[in-house]
Amino acid sequence: AGTLGAQAAQSGRYFGTAVAAGRLGDGTYTTILDREFNAVTPENEMKWDATERSRGSFSFTAADQIVGHATAHGQRVRGHTLVWHSQLPGWVGAITDATTLRSVVRNHITTEMTHFKGKIYAWDVVNEAFADGGSGARRGSVFQNVLGDGYIEDAFRTARSADPAAKLCYNDYNIEDWSAAKTQAVYRMVRDFKSRGVPIDCVGFQSHFGSSGPPASFRTTLANFAALGVDVQITELDIAQAPATAYANTVKACMNVARCTGISVWGIRDSDSWRSGENPLLFDGAGNKKAAYGAALSALGGT
Ligand code: G3I
Repeated sequence: AGTLGAQAAQSGRYFGTAVAAGRLGDGTYTTILDREFNAVTPENEMKWDATERSRGSFSFTAADQIVGHATAHGQRVRGHTLVWHSQLPGWVGAITDATTLRSVVRNHITTEMTHFKGKIYAWDVVNEAFADGGSGARRGSVFQNVLGDGYIEDAFRTARSADPAAKLCYNDYNIEDWSAAKTQAVYRMVRDFKSRGVPIDCVGFQSHFGSSGPPASFRTTLANFAALGVDVQITELDIAQAPATAYANTVKACMNVARCTGISVWGIRDSDSWRSGENPLLFDGAGNKKAAYGAALSALGGT
């Protein structure tokens, strides 16, 4: 097949991209989106600051635009993200009482997931809950500090009740290298969840790479997580300067793991990227395919 999504579909996988609602009126953007991609992730529109700016007052207009576009074009949707320390409204961060915060988190998850029920392939239920560096510790956040370690499993149990058909993912960055303390900490959490029956279906590896691309152990990491009984996905791929080999190596790591169900890049054109200064994506600012595009397509088994 001649496009990323169609080629990925030949092995039962998807190839997706982050989408910004504000760009859906750009014809160059939507032409590439609808030609190449069979999955989308709203880049900001499903985050807490976009959906529940004040307590109990929900708005899904921008996210609905993306989901509507995706539905009309046969694209799966990854929901991103329900519980995250960043892009969090100040009123949530100011809660100091555990009973209140637990109820606020459960209500946020349930209301948002219910709104999109039946339309979401997988949700990033919890995002970036582990600290950087060698400690393997949880990241400090209002959730961690007020609710303690149990907030993550509480979020997954709440999510399962809200939409039993959606796959429930834990998503993070810098967990691609098997030897990293952060990777090991997330692995232990997933292993613990699976052993105790906490509902988790997938792990998202953001994969924001430097120009050397994925660590040599990336395939091993994906395979080891998959062996716990979860799907694995590459969820936010971008690579500084987009070297073709680095993109090929990343795609191959997924193709070599049966339970790696899909790959999403974090934007379409370099000019759409949060790292636009590094030109990390598959299309240039004018929407032309870069060398990395051909490398990714080939690695998916295309021509
Ligand atoms: O919406 C406001 C707009 O009203 C205002 O005029 C403008 C001025 O700066 O800011 C706009 O908000 C920006 C928002 O993107 C929407 O464009 C924020 O400043 C900006 O910080 C925000 O950046 C996003 C970032 O997450 C925030 O953490 C990026 O677009 C988005 O690509 C990035 O995505 C994250 C994933 O969700 C999680 N993993 C890491 C990844 C990269 O940071």
